[in-house]
Amino acid sequence: MTAAQSTNRTPRSQMAPPATLFLFGAHGDLVKRLLVPSLYNLTRDGLVGDALHIVGVDHNKVSDEEYRGKLADFMQEMSAKRGKSEGGEPALDDKLWDGLAQRITYLEGDFLDDATYQAIKQRIEASGTRNAVFYLATAPRFFCEVVTRLAHAGLLQEGDDQFRRVIVEKPFGSDLKTAQDLNAGILAVMDEKQVYRIDHYLGKETVQNILVSRFSNGLFEAFWNNHYVDHVQITAAETVGVEQRGNFYERTGALRDMVPNHLFQLLAMVAMEPPAAFGADEVRSEKAKVVAAIRPQSPEEARRNSVRGQYAAGETGGQRVPGYREENRVAPDSCTETFVALKLWVDNWRWAGVPFYLRTGKRLGVRSTQIAICFKPAPMSPFRDTHVHRLRPNYLIIQIQPDEGMWFDFQAKKPGTTLEIDNIQMGFAYSDFFKMQPSTGYETLLYDCMIGDQTLFQRADNIENGWRAVQPFLDAWHDCKDVQMYPAGTDGPEAADELLRRDGRAWHSLK
Ligand code: BG6
Repeated sequence: MTAAQSTNRTPRSQMAPPATLFLFGAHGDLVKRLLVPSLYNLTRDGLVGDALHIVGVDHNKVSDEEYRGKLADFMQEMSAKRGKSEGGEPALDDKLWDGLAQRITYLEGDFLDDATYQAIKQRIEASGTRNAVFYLATAPRFFCEVVTRLAHAGLLQEGDDQFRRVIVEKPFGSDLKTAQDLNAGILAVMDEKQVYRIDHYLGKETVQNILVSRFSNGLFEAFWNNHYVDHVQITAAETVGVEQRGNFYERTGALRDMVPNHLFQLLAMVAMEPPAAFGADEVRSEKAKVVAAIRPQSPEEARRNSVRGQYAAGETGGQRVPGYREENRVAPDSCTETFVALKLWVDNWRWAGVPFYLRTGKRLGVRSTQIAICFKPAPMSPFRDTHVHRLRPNYLIIQIQPDEGMWFDFQAKKPGTTLEIDNIQMGFAYSDFFKMQPSTGYETLLYDCMIGDQTLFQRADNIENGWRAVQPFLDAWHDCKDVQMYPAGTDGPEAADELLRRDGRAWHSLK
């Protein structure tokens, strides 16, 4: 994401250096749906070229041809769908795809067999470049195993003219202890500089724009503190259910799935102090500090300041949908939460006394990821004896998705002879100013890893601080009766509204 800062870094917008990219978990959805389309987009944009070789690694027995064929079918299907929805021709450029596809090969191998790593070594030797990136798009139980075997095979050894980097997917641990163990296992065999812990929220343009808006405009800093901000709301609302991931979700739940990673990334972007420079270390240190400043809560406080919900059958987008307990591979008496709302505090000079309300859920009425910064009211209302009885708070809305942009909600006089005030919005929509090419959000992250820029990746302390902050909630939740049902297609359980109402506040509308 950054401009080139050090001598060994390629400036953005230049072709990434030669390398072989090994995709562990080559048959998984992530590779097919997101990574290969991202590599296609990077090729389209001229950011990767012939010098990038891609090797899918998995245990299934398929030939190179068959593997490419499977990816090609998916790319065709996806672009046909997009072409249809945009009313135009299928968007896949066959020549571009063929160029990329011929650099994709397949390696059949068991992740736990040393022979796989010897085969990888041979692929690197045959590739004409010694640089390699290993992307762990596998089940989390393989993360440490693969990294350890890569190291034992000498594959993580770097030199003056060769880099070796590992991208680790989420979930990174399932609580503080497992995250610490995983970090310890990884860092026992490689340097932090080689580890790229991914959080795809950081690949989203609007998330990156939070930092740019805050730190390239003098305007915002003036009111970005507890003198002016009443509270902050961070919402990631989804309309989808758990889809085919019942098995994974049963063990995970909304808190683990979304909060210590995606929502805390948003919180960190909003709440961090300005970094001294826009380098990976400076940015990540500030992010780590602010997440570490989230106040630890006692079990009673954690229970009082959290809401767990689970969707029951309902209606979304005009369709009847089943409840969570009726989903595939979900227990009929499951207590897993599909919705969570939390009230947190960031105990530092800037944010003392400002609550941060977070919520995320599946099968809600609208899809919207949004940060709403609510400002304190004007110090007094001079509108006595007029029609204006109550002033609404001002908000700055940062809309992450869909309809990316930023808006101020404030009040203006309605035209007319009597004094009446109405709420208006002044804003910037990405689509009004920038033509955005279709992207998955992984392009920036893949490219940054290839050029050696860790700014948008999570450092070990960042991950552990996140788990440390949610651990009180994990510890406090034992009882199934704490899980409140909400009908699919609504805003979540009533208790989530009550969490703010008892403080005299309300969630900003997502519509
Ligand atoms: C993933 C979670 O990390 O993020 C999913 O595992 C969730 O459950 C997804 O749906 C949300 O991502 P996005 O980009 O659609 O907001």
